[in-house]
Amino acid sequence: MTSMESLIGLVNRIQQACTVLGDYGGADNNAFSSLWEALPSVAVVGGQSSGKSSVLESIVGRDFLPRGSGIVTRRPLVLQLHKVDGKAKEYAEFLHMPGQKITDYAIVRQEIQNETDRVTGRTKQISPVPIHLSIYSPHVVNLTLIDLPGLTKVAVEGQPETIAQDIENMVRSFVDKPNCIILAISPANQDIATSDAIKLSREVDPSGERTFGVLTKLDLMDRGTNALDVLEGRSYRLQHPWVGVVNRSQADINKNVDMIVARRKESEYFETSPDYGHLANKMGSVYLAKLLSQHLESVIRQRIPNITSLINKTIEELESEMNQIGRPIAADAGAQLYTILELCRAFDRVFKEHLDGGRPGGDR
Ligand code: GDP
Ligand code: NA
Ligand code: MG
Repeated sequence: MTSMESLIGLVNRIQQACTVLGDYGGADNNAFSSLWEALPSVAVVGGQSSGKSSVLESIVGRDFLPRGSGIVTRRPLVLQLHKVDGKAKEYAEFLHMPGQKITDYAIVRQEIQNETDRVTGRTKQISPVPIHLSIYSPHVVNLTLIDLPGLTKVAVEGQPETIAQDIENMVRSFVDKPNCIILAISPANQDIATSDAIKLSREVDPSGERTFGVLTKLDLMDRGTNALDVLEGRSYRLQHPWVGVVNRSQADINKNVDMIVARRKESEYFETSPDYGHLANKMGSVYLAKLLSQHLESVIRQRIPNITSLINKTIEELESEMNQIGRPIAADAGAQLYTILELCRAFDRVFKEHLDGGRPGGDR
């Protein structure tokens, strides 16, 4: 791993430890909330069934999210990807099931569904209480991704009248934060002028510096039409380039078409398309994942001075807190503080090595 990768990995783990601590009610602590705000995450925003969960799955390159027509995603899912070294076996772990390493993604998907139902019942209702999931793998980039329910206009049977506003408020609570990178998901078979994703992201990020426009369902456009006006930035200009994707259709999902086949079909789609052939190397989910991780790295680079000073402040606060409560026992809030302290110290150490990176052994 490069020292930059290690730094991003540590940022990710500090974020995770702060989340666990939040469960103990410690999140009010100033240092942690400012630390959390300093660390970037990526959230999806868009109308219901625009393809948000599908896009997240392809970024991760794993089949693990419930998808489908209607309101499927009913609680926020905070997904942390942790890159681990070497040949370690990949596994997933839920915050609400500590110590259970799950290696079968069908079980992960089922547990997301069960855990959603546990809070909301088997209804069409939503809950703002996030589900936290971590994936540890040598094959992922360090990244925090947030899947969210889709924006709607009307309540359907079994939903309260306030549902549209409830969902919007929930989505806003994530994307309002300046550390949140927005994946604004719009389906290509609807007019971009009516896109809920663009409407909301324009409000919370008027300059567009933290918004990535993603156009899904290119394969479902009417024959004889194409999305070049959007993809080439003429319809609605964003700071970052638009990325078009082709996710699995419902028929593909029913047939259990796997991720690798889907990615191959997606790149064939672009390479052989008379409309998008000239853009083929800037389209698709693999390219989107690359774009995001580059952006994330540059954001973290910019923020390193800020993050470092927050981390030093946290170390100071924690050290004095530790002096008062003494060496904590495992599995209590004190142990979490101790973990954060250790991670912060590690960050500080790697950061100093990173500064020395011009010498052999560094990555710059
Ligand atoms: P979400 O509600 O925004 O999370 O959307 P989902 O990811 O659950 O997808 C909703 C439905 O649209 C599913 O049936 C997907 O198979 C389908 N879908 C999503 N993206 C595409 C796409 O690019 N092409 C096609 N044909 N179907 C898609
Ligand atoms: Na859906
Ligand atoms: Mg969804």
